[in-house]
Amino acid sequence: MSTESADHNARGSAPWGQGPQGPPAERAEKAFTELHGHAPEGVWSAPGRVNLIGEHTDYNNGYVLPFALPHRTAVAAQRREDGLLTVASLGDDGQFQQAEPVRVADLRPGSPRGWAAYPAGVAWVLAAEGVPVTGADLVISGTVPTGAGLSSSHALECATALALLGLAGIDPDQPGGPGRPRIARWVQRCENEFVGAPTGLLDQTASLCCVRGHVLFLDVRSGESEQVPFDAEAAGLEVLVIDTRAKHALVESAYGDRRRGCEQAARLLGLPSLRELEPAGLAGALDRLPEPLRPLVRHVVTENQRVLSTVDKLRSGRLDEIGGELTASHASLRDDYQVSCLELDVAVEAALAAGALGARMVGGGFGGSAIALVRAGQRAEVERAVTAAYARHELTAPRLFVAVPSPGAGRD
Ligand code: GLA
Repeated sequence: MSTESADHNARGSAPWGQGPQGPPAERAEKAFTELHGHAPEGVWSAPGRVNLIGEHTDYNNGYVLPFALPHRTAVAAQRREDGLLTVASLGDDGQFQQAEPVRVADLRPGSPRGWAAYPAGVAWVLAAEGVPVTGADLVISGTVPTGAGLSSSHALECATALALLGLAGIDPDQPGGPGRPRIARWVQRCENEFVGAPTGLLDQTASLCCVRGHVLFLDVRSGESEQVPFDAEAAGLEVLVIDTRAKHALVESAYGDRRRGCEQAARLLGLPSLRELEPAGLAGALDRLPEPLRPLVRHVVTENQRVLSTVDKLRSGRLDEIGGELTASHASLRDDYQVSCLELDVAVEAALAAGALGARMVGGGFGGSAIALVRAGQRAEVERAVTAAYARHELTAPRLFVAVPSPGAGRD
């Protein structure tokens, strides 16, 4: 799978994202000018994401509740007329990595591979969807940590999609434009068909559709969404992101296995997807399923309910009451869905023991990041506790930062 965690496991770390900071759009523009000898036509950027709650529900047509990170990937772009796509990325060491130029008309799923697959796959899907992609020079720079379960690959794909649309003179938000939910579907198609990752709609929708100060409540089945205000600071709270820096090999195969398990369960129950299974019917449904599928179904049904309950609390300004939902989500992902790992469990347990109101793994699992909802005054203590627990378990020290809901993708 791709996703933030698996992509980089499978394909090696992309050469951007963890080094000298600074506005990625400016860095991309400057790097473009340095490489091509003239300024780009424009710069577009897109954020990584964390998911507050609603994990492994997207491909079951369920609910998710992500917000965009302040970390972004920027793509400086110039239109070409000769059908060629050139892609370079600025590494944290200030060095360029340049992919082999490719002809857009010759792009086929599976080639190129590695980090260049993301921009190439987006060019491929846009061309397939009828967008005139006449060729482009792209230069990438970003600050979304790679391999951290924070959707760095989707940030790159979404920024590339807006850049290529922009070069074609298409504003996604104008009347008659494709609209962001449709672009999210295109990016999903890039992931599923070009990159070869069976991921859902969570990451690209978050990167494209989130807005500052809000979490995005998305109903994947209907496509309806609502921006729900999320002002942790006003409530005296913070969302602490704990990048475990762990990447386990299992992540790719496990994601596909879980997804197939859910689809099989829905088939056996005669339902289009697990979304159609209501909590009241859960016990009866579990009785009709083979043992190995039961915990998967239990997770999906209960997780959807936890999203609804979290949204209810947020709508009525009870942000300090959502901790229990987060922690219950983690337990369900660990015990029923079985996608957690030692690093994630240690982070969650240490954060809770140090007073976090709630904590959970985010993203696909088997590494990546966790989040903890903490009272602002307790953050230092939680950070110390998590770091100390990692040292006790002889784990690589985690990376910690506070995340606030930030703007979605756009032109810089
Ligand atoms: C990854 C995938 C998403 C979603 C999450 C789990 O991030 O890319 O589509 O399935 O895992 O919620």
